[in-house]
Amino acid sequence: RNYLHFESISSTNDYAKEIAPSATDGTAIVAEEQTSGRGRMGRHWVSNKGQGIWLSMILKPNLSPNEAVKLTQVAAVAVVDSIKEIADIRSGIKWPNDIVINSKKVCGILTEMNGEIDRVNFIVIGIGINVNVQNFPEDLCGKATSLSIETGKILDRKPLTASILNNFEKYYRIFLINGFSSIRNLCKEYSLTLNKDVKVIINNNECIGRAVDIDDDGNLIVVFKNGEKKTIASGDVSV
Ligand code: BTN
Repeated sequence: RNYLHFESISSTNDYAKEIAPSATDGTAIVAEEQTSGRGRMGRHWVSNKGQGIWLSMILKPNLSPNEAVKLTQVAAVAVVDSIKEIADIRSGIKWPNDIVINSKKVCGILTEMNGEIDRVNFIVIGIGINVNVQNFPEDLCGKATSLSIETGKILDRKPLTASILNNFEKYYRIFLINGFSSIRNLCKEYSLTLNKDVKVIINNNECIGRAVDIDDDGNLIVVFKNGEKKTIASGDVSV
């Protein structure tokens, strides 16, 4: 496997996108520190030295873009398994791709894609896990946590990184062979969103409904008060 390690980098996702055209499927990039770590929706991602796993994977699956976005959820399932394996603590998935412990976010996933309408050139899955972070900036207090805060232990990041790469590879293969439906049950089992009320933005309006299912395509099925059922493909859903 192609594995690149940096002491310091702007963002592993940015670097991954830069080298992706000539990189092989499965290339992993890990940094001790990111100077401009990015989150979803243009947000900043705190990525201090040695405090977490800042990892990006370059994938070149033979898929259409709307199939490839499901890889985010494949990654989320792998992370939940690895956190259990290495830190011996249960986490769950806030659909589609935040990993949460005790209602606080411990890991975020940023998936970026390059391709045409019917074909993906490459996809970059960025995973950020707060491992040994002890305090968060004020705006994240109450919202973010780390494995160390939750377990009361300092954790070795190497075995956790290795476990994530192994688990992801396992589920990635299953997904490529059998499709998302083969991962669906785990997504549902690990989901913290199912059977909860969620806020969904539809045409700029905030609507509250109940999440009742994750379908064979990884979409969230939400039923609203008026009985209307909607299939939510992505976007910001908050409990
Ligand atoms: C989010 O929840 O908003 C997604 C956070 C993703 C953070 C990871 S850390 C490794 C990779 N490089 C980045 O700049 N971001 C992702």
